[in-house]
Order: sequence, then C-alpha cells, then structure tokens
Amino acid sequence: IFKLNRRHHNESGSAWTPIESSSLVEPNLVGKEVIRACREVVDLVVARKKKNVYKLAIVGTGGVGKTTLAQKIFNDKKLEGRFDHHAWACVSKEYSRDSLLRQVLRNMGIRYEQDESVPELQRKIKSHIANKSFFLVLDDVWNSEAWTDLLSTPLHAAATGVILITTRDDTIARVIGVDHTHRVDLMSADVGWELLWRSMNINQEKQVQNLKDIGIEIVRKCGGLPLAIRVIATVLASQEQTENEWRRILGKNAWSMSKLPRELSGALYLSYEVLPHQLKQCFLYCALFPEDETILRDILTRMWVAEALWMRK
Ligand SMILES: Nc1ncnc2c1ncn2[C@@H]1O[C@H](COP(=O)(O)OP(=O)(O)OP(=O)(O)O)[C@@H](O)[C@H]1O
Ligand SMILES: [Mg+2]
Repeated sequence: IFKLNRRHHNESGSAWTPIESSSLVEPNLVGKEVIRACREVVDLVVARKKKNVYKLAIVGTGGVGKTTLAQKIFNDKKLEGRFDHHAWACVSKEYSRDSLLRQVLRNMGIRYEQDESVPELQRKIKSHIANKSFFLVLDDVWNSEAWTDLLSTPLHAAATGVILITTRDDTIARVIGVDHTHRVDLMSADVGWELLWRSMNINQEKQVQNLKDIGIEIVRKCGGLPLAIRVIATVLASQEQTENEWRRILGKNAWSMSKLPRELSGALYLSYEVLPHQLKQCFLYCALFPEDETILRDILTRMWVAEALWMRK
C-alpha cells in the first residue's frame, strides 16, 4: 500500500536515505504536455548561450508533476554525455547545509570526508568543477539560499553549467534569477481520466469505458491534480468497478473535510480516511521520518511490529 523501498541498511544503519537520483522515473506518464515540456526544456539546455551558468526553473503547485518532468528531462538521451557532471540533488523544505553539499558531491562522484565543514565542502566542489561542465537538478527548493548562499559560488567555477530547480514558489525562481521558467499546469479532464484508469493498472480504456462520465467527475473533484488522481485511483482500484461504487466514493464527506491544510484536503484525506484502523496507525507512523527521504521497508515493518501496530505472520 505504501510503496516502500526494499533495501538494506545504509552504512550508518539509519532507517532512511535521501532520494539521490532520478531512478524513480515514472514509467507510465500520460499526456502530450509532459513530452512537449520535456522537449522544450531539453532544447533550451542544448542550445544554451555560452553563459557560465544557465538557470532554469520548473514551477507549479504541489503534486502537479514538477519532479516528474524534471526526472524526464534529467534522463533525456539528448543530455547523455553532454556534461562532465550530471547530478540530481533533492533539497526539500528542511535541509542542512552540509548534507546538501555532501549530496551534491556524492552525486557528482566526488569523494569527501564525513567531518568536512561547509567551507571545506564548498572548496571541494569548486576545485573539482573548475573548467568542467555540469548539469545539476535541485529538486524541491523552498529557500533560494540553497543556491544563492551555498552552491552558487562554488559552481560558478565551472566552465559552463546548467541548473534546473523545481519549486512551488515563483519568488524563489525570481530571486535565483532564472533565465527561463516552465510552469506545469493542472491536467485537462481527458488526460486526468487517462491517468485515473492507467493508475488502476487497467491496460485498455474499453475495460472502464462505461465509467468514463463518473470518472471525469472524479478527476474534476481532484482539481486536475495528478497526485490526487493517482491517490484516488488506488482507492477506486480496491473497490468494485461499478458506477454505484464510484458514486459512493464521489459522495463521501471526506472530500470536503475542512480544517485541513489545503494540500492534504480532498482526495488525499479521503484515501487516508478509507484505510482500516490498523493501517491508519501504520501510515501515521511514517510521519516520524523526514520528508522526501526513502523509507526502507524491512526496517519500517520491524518498527511497526515492535510498536505492536502490526503482527508478523
Ligand atoms: N504526466 C504525468 N503522467 C503520469 N503521472 C504523473 C504525471 N505528472 C505527475 N504525475 C504523478 O503525480 C504525482 C505527483 O507528481 P510530482 O511528485 O512530480 O509532483 P510535484 O509537482 O513535484 O509535487 P511537490 O511540489 O509536492 O514536490 C506523482 O505520483 C507522479 O507520478
Ligand atoms: Mg516534487
């Protein structure tokens, strides 16, 4: 249910690790928009003027598909081998300066010692990047200082480079002074409908053709937000595929539960509300982990067992 990662302990024995690459790329993207946007940004990167550091931003509301688009761009064949360093760093709302620098170094394949200070780590980036080229994605930026105070100076030592940031906040793109902003829009009803049935592991639309009208109502209720559509698809997939059942879900009070932060209301709250009591507890337990980090499944399930939230069979 929670799509956790099955991996072994990392070296520090910690239960979670930062998301360090775009290997999580979504295989089933829907809509022409994401393909067009990817082509447009990749072309800009390829044709960039001889600027020292070329800055691009992907901006849009939470869950609209910014990281997804950035992953597609990051993995685009046209960018393969074009830069000496090709790296991804997840910044997130709460980041520590030294661990962000270490993440950048690690993903650029540069060695560092655990006890190196922020200025030492910056110097290391600077000396390795000098006269080289780089492409760096800074995903989920909430504070422009991650670039202006931390990474800008060392990375300006490069001969040439591109940074691509994703952020919910236009102001950040402005403060960073990006050369180009791409805005990701909400999905149209038709594309949202395709995302809905595909996310239910249905291979052909004709299997659910009779549910299209109610499906589109559900997509509208999700406000065309891909994250909400994917989440509600998991709820629908666990029910009978009948119009009555989908109407029952559409009519649930949980859609309009007030007193919740906007980003958690609607489909996201509903998907929590329909969980059995025991799974609700397990889900809430995940809130103990830092945001944007990979949670290792085996360790989490052991924690659930230890807390008596789950019985090992
Ligand atoms: N074109 C698309 N096709 C299929 N799925 C998509 C598409 N765009 C987004 N999604 C799905 O929507 C969900 C949210 O996307 P994503 O994580 O990229 O949003 P985001 O804008 O980065 O959100 P946040 O601001 O919270 O970081 C993901 O599950 C992603 O797979
Ligand atoms: Mg994101």
